[in-house]
Amino acid sequence: MEKFVRLTGVAAPLMRKNVDTDVVIPMRRLIGHARGEFGKFCFEPWRYRSDGSENPEFPLNQPRFRNAKVLVAADNFGCGSSREHAVWALQGMGIRCVIAPSFGDIFFNNCIQNGMLAIRLSEAEVERLAADIEQAKSAEATVDLEAQQIIAPSGAAIAFDIEPERRRGLLEGLDQIGMTLKLDSAIRAFQDKDRGERPWIYRREETETLARVLILPGDGVGPEVLAQVRRIVDWFMAERDLAIDLREELFGMLAWKAHGTLMREETWKEIQAADAILFGAIGSPEYEKLPPEATRVDQLLRMRKELDLFDNMRPVRTIEALAATSSLRAEVTKGCDMVIVRELAGGIYFGEPRGIERRADGSERAFNTCVYTTGEIERIARSAFDLARVRMGRVCSVDKANVLPETSGLWRRTVQALRDKEYPDVDLSHMYVDNCAMQLVRNPTQFDVMLTENLFGDILSDCAAMIAGSLGMLPSASLGPVREDGRRQALYEPIHGSAPDIAGKGIANPVGAILSFALCLRHSLGLPQEAARLERAVENAIASGARTADIAGKGDKTCGTAEMGDAVLTELGRLP
Ligand code: IPM
Ligand code: MG
Repeated sequence: MEKFVRLTGVAAPLMRKNVDTDVVIPMRRLIGHARGEFGKFCFEPWRYRSDGSENPEFPLNQPRFRNAKVLVAADNFGCGSSREHAVWALQGMGIRCVIAPSFGDIFFNNCIQNGMLAIRLSEAEVERLAADIEQAKSAEATVDLEAQQIIAPSGAAIAFDIEPERRRGLLEGLDQIGMTLKLDSAIRAFQDKDRGERPWIYRREETETLARVLILPGDGVGPEVLAQVRRIVDWFMAERDLAIDLREELFGMLAWKAHGTLMREETWKEIQAADAILFGAIGSPEYEKLPPEATRVDQLLRMRKELDLFDNMRPVRTIEALAATSSLRAEVTKGCDMVIVRELAGGIYFGEPRGIERRADGSERAFNTCVYTTGEIERIARSAFDLARVRMGRVCSVDKANVLPETSGLWRRTVQALRDKEYPDVDLSHMYVDNCAMQLVRNPTQFDVMLTENLFGDILSDCAAMIAGSLGMLPSASLGPVREDGRRQALYEPIHGSAPDIAGKGIANPVGAILSFALCLRHSLGLPQEAARLERAVENAIASGARTADIAGKGDKTCGTAEMGDAVLTELGRLP
């Protein structure tokens, strides 16, 4: 947040009462624009005429008040709905200070949270200041937060009051969270002391409420990348007071070698009891040498089905520093930030009947079934809509309704009906999957939330990986339905799979797995700020040049799996 200390600039009077936040930034502009883009819509209904040209009557359009930095307003400025965007819009127009006799409460707080100084003066003082601005030769005023005074264009000084906490936050450029974080060590010291004196208060936290996290490294590169995840989990436990019940179990070939089965019954019990599973990968050429009954059931698909992990989220974000390693041109991928929401427990992956028959002429006939019910479609669509509401508000639903009017037709109808009934504020579009594959590589920034059924999501997410630079970068979260205790069982895995060609060489990229743990912090452990911390550390590690072979550009020095883990840990240690 920008600091506010002392400001000299044009002051503009806008002496209308009850300026609503919907005029400051109209509701219809809230969605689809980034934070820095609201300035051009600020005061839109007053500032422009219906043909789009500027309205010369509007004070801020007059040459004298153009580029104003200070706004002098009448009673109840910023009333109306609580949108933070109102402050961003004013800032986008260049305004850094608003002076008025009174404000909408939430607007007033939003100002302080975003580095905008809102000053309350008496009505008489505001009127005098406005008259001073109108009459003086130049409309330039100074607002001095340190001295708590305004110097009007005529030179007259007006003192103002402000709560000391708010003043300090603005002077130091810290919002409320920032101010609290400054007290971090004092809070910790208090907690440590308190824990010694009143241990019973903390006992619950240490026992039954602990989330159970199970590490299943699995096959291929799984154990290598999960070893790095383990170091990161340990760091959070040691340095950030992360309290979890952490366990680890063999799974896949390693379990076979140790116990003669790919998954022991004990392991399955652990899986069922876990709140979150950190999964590596499954699959190895060695499976071909095992007796067929040992590999008949795919254990990953079994987990997805039996734990009903229907809600699969695959965030795809461009990392600027990796633009050159993508097979797509940097200007195509720049700024892409989307999430694929994939239905994971239904569709053709699990549909019955399925099988292979031998025919009379000796040839074979093989078949799978794609099935979806209204309920299955609704619950995944709901996840996509809920997610869109906290993002840019757009969902693109993918199907193949032109050739599959049954499953895809039901998909499209159900998604649309749910949107119309419960999510009218979300902008929903539909796209055929073939076109979608093309749009992903042609213009990926058009997507916010992409909603797909199981098979389409599998294919499109590999395709989307190229936007992030490498398959090794992408994390995923798979969540089950909300249980009675309010928790959702979850599995977190990188989407890259077991990569047998590079397994055991210590060169696999652990970032997808590390970022999957960030998703676990966010979705299973309720620690979104710690998740953001880890994501930031990964970005910083990459920005500082750490590159596994898959994300190295020409001439870049490459590092191994463990060095990438080192780099992330170093950056975690550096973050304040
Ligand atoms: C994925 C993988 C899995 C899938 C495989 C390993 C079963 O490709 O998670 O995208 O097809 O879903
Ligand atoms: Mg896949």
